Amino acid sequence: MKLPFIPENAPYSDTQRAWLSGFFAGMHSHMLQSASSIDASNARSLYILYGTQTGNSESLANDAANSAKAHGLLPVVKSMDEVDISQLAGMEHLLIITSTYGEGAMPDNAEMLWEAANSDSAPRLENLKFSVLALGDTSYDLFCQAGIDWDNRLAALGATRVLDRVDCDVDFEAPAEQWISEVVPLMAEGASTTAVIDTGSPSTKSAYNRKNPFPAKLLVNRIVTALDSSKETRHYEISITGSGLSYEAGDALCVIPSNCPELVSSIVSTLGCTGTEQEPVAGELMSLSTALQNYFEIKLPSKEFVEEIARRSGDQELNALLNSGDKEQLSNYLWGRDILDLLLQFPQVEFSAAEFINLLKPLQHRAYSISSSGKAHPDTVHLTVASVRYDAHGRHHKGVCSTYLADLVDETTPLRIFFTPNNNFRVPNDDSLPMIMVGPGTGIAPFRAFLQERAFRKASGKNWLFFGDRNAATDFIYRDEIEAMQNSGLLTKLDLAFSRDQAEKIYVQDKMRNNGAELWAWLEQGGYFFVCGDAYHMAKDVDKALHEVIQKHGKKTLLEAVDYVNQLKKDKRYVRDVY
Ligand SMILES: Cc1cc2nc3c(=O)[nH]c(=O)nc-3n(C[C@H](O)[C@H](O)[C@H](O)COP(=O)(O)OP(=O)(O)OC[C@H]3O[C@@H](n4cnc5c(N)ncnc54)[C@H](O)[C@@H]3O)c2cc1C
Ligand SMILES: NC(=O)c1ccc[n+]([C@@H]2O[C@H](COP(=O)([O-])OP(=O)(O)OC[C@H]3O[C@@H](n4cnc5c(N)ncnc54)[C@H](OP(=O)(O)O)[C@@H]3O)[C@@H](O)[C@H]2O)c1
Ligand SMILES: Cc1cc2nc3c(=O)[nH]c(=O)nc-3n(C[C@H](O)[C@H](O)[C@H](O)COP(=O)(O)O)c2cc1C
Repeated sequence: MKLPFIPENAPYSDTQRAWLSGFFAGMHSHMLQSASSIDASNARSLYILYGTQTGNSESLANDAANSAKAHGLLPVVKSMDEVDISQLAGMEHLLIITSTYGEGAMPDNAEMLWEAANSDSAPRLENLKFSVLALGDTSYDLFCQAGIDWDNRLAALGATRVLDRVDCDVDFEAPAEQWISEVVPLMAEGASTTAVIDTGSPSTKSAYNRKNPFPAKLLVNRIVTALDSSKETRHYEISITGSGLSYEAGDALCVIPSNCPELVSSIVSTLGCTGTEQEPVAGELMSLSTALQNYFEIKLPSKEFVEEIARRSGDQELNALLNSGDKEQLSNYLWGRDILDLLLQFPQVEFSAAEFINLLKPLQHRAYSISSSGKAHPDTVHLTVASVRYDAHGRHHKGVCSTYLADLVDETTPLRIFFTPNNNFRVPNDDSLPMIMVGPGTGIAPFRAFLQERAFRKASGKNWLFFGDRNAATDFIYRDEIEAMQNSGLLTKLDLAFSRDQAEKIYVQDKMRNNGAELWAWLEQGGYFFVCGDAYHMAKDVDKALHEVIQKHGKKTLLEAVDYVNQLKKDKRYVRDVY
């Protein structure tokens, strides 16, 4: 690629100049396709920082960059963890695109910059013009909180908001496109118009996405836990032949499910409907049963539905919970209760078909970490999925998508899928570096993919897997493969934590502590530390154990250990795929 020349007298601050030089020297070449034909001496830089866990914000940042190029701007797209606070202070035009994770928290790659920007020592940003696009999901209490925090903080530091923040729910594409189309011209206002306008190379985006999923064929559906296990985990293989699609180890596959027909029938009869009632949905008239089967979330109750049940029933307990603002108590009450449970619990509450539908959310896809390497398996995608099945409130309950895959899809059902790339979560480019992988339960999925990838690449680096589940006899999934990898030498070290094989629980983080000295040594050798699986308990405890290991075996204070971990994150050597 021809590198653009950045003249001495070009209107950049030192920070911008240093950054652009590094940038064009190829450090982040993926971020600015065909920028070479923009005249950098005249173009205004537009910084686009994204905070992402699963790639949506990154993809939108690239869309915004393409639009910026078309407006003669010089877009600089960065993951937030590639930027420090002094660089932020040197910026004049900035777009922030960030999702929210955990419970109202920043995505992993936004955490450090946020901490610096939110600290008392953060610089004033009077010269900065900005706007924020926030991604989130209204089913979470703290909707779009990370974007809200950035928006408020930048304004508090003296920056000027050129366009109000836009908060996007799960259907983020249309509002995001609208925001980009409004904000980019505002950012270009008053900029030199002599820049050579370049609309960039044709989009390399996949032809298949959430709105246009690929109809794939399910080839393999195999239970990998023992039949007498207390849980059910399945291995799936899905054909992508003929799609033109490809994927990388670390990516996720999204599946758009349909609802269980028996649940649809039960809801229809509990409502006192026939199912043939015609309702306008997605621009057409369709029967209530079809709408419930394919278009609406009919398991997890929306806030609006719960509130309406409380209002119409006048139930004291539910109203008290809703009015108390005690979110934990409310979520305890709702845990395991689905829409049908609430309809059955309050038979005096009646809804017409139209009223009921108006209280539902659209049926959403579910994401799954891919458990195969696209290099080793270019024609298939493998998934490792725990089937959600439980008894509660006098009924058997099934998770929508995990049991759709398990029970309802056969070779003749077009399985609607699309990929979400996860560029942060990748096998190291340097094949000689060690990989440490912590993946209990279904968290093993991407590590099966990583190990296949390393085998395919004949990578020399050492590999260490921490895996665990409830019982060794029933839940040691992929045991044969894992043992074969050990025997071949691909898997250098394996630590297993079967939590329920003894009176005291043993978890992966206990195994990390037991092997602390060696773990520290692997980190010091340039090792990468990956975590996948439960975000709310396991990943937090593993993070704590990592800090403890670094403190103890690296002989560091807690603050030094925090710095060490932050550097690992910055170098993308500590990355997580947690849910
Ligand atoms: C990036 C990402 C990667 C993921 N990768 C994987 C993966 O590799 N493998 C995998 O299995 N999952 C993975 N998941 C989770 C997956 O997306 C789904 O959330 C999971 O399959 C459940 O979806 P479902 O539609 O079957 O259940 P849903 O219909 O969404 O129901 C789940 C809900 O059921 C309730 N519930 C569940 N268990 C119980 C119980 N025991 N008692 C009472 N209530 C309960 C809870 O309210 C829970 O929220 C991933 C998620 C993300 C975001
Ligand atoms: N956020 C979520 O909603 C979420 C997150 C992860 C998984 N899930 C769902 O739960 C189902 C099963 O998931 P799974 O197979 O991945 O895992 P899992 O069954 O939840 O757990 C796997 C192993 O992790 C152990 N574990 C529990 N708490 C832990 C902690 N604090 N630290 C370390 N290990 C801990 C479990 O032990 P014990 O059970 O014996 O304590 C078990 O041995 C799936 O449907 C999945 O989608 C939901
Ligand atoms: C484990 C998990 C936690 C989430 N927590 C929140 C939250 O607290 N608030 C919110 O608005 N959205 C939340 N979301 C939704 C994400 O922000 C949303 O899916 C977003 O589109 C993800 O964008 P990304 O791919 O750029 O990370 C959460 C999603 C997951 C999987």
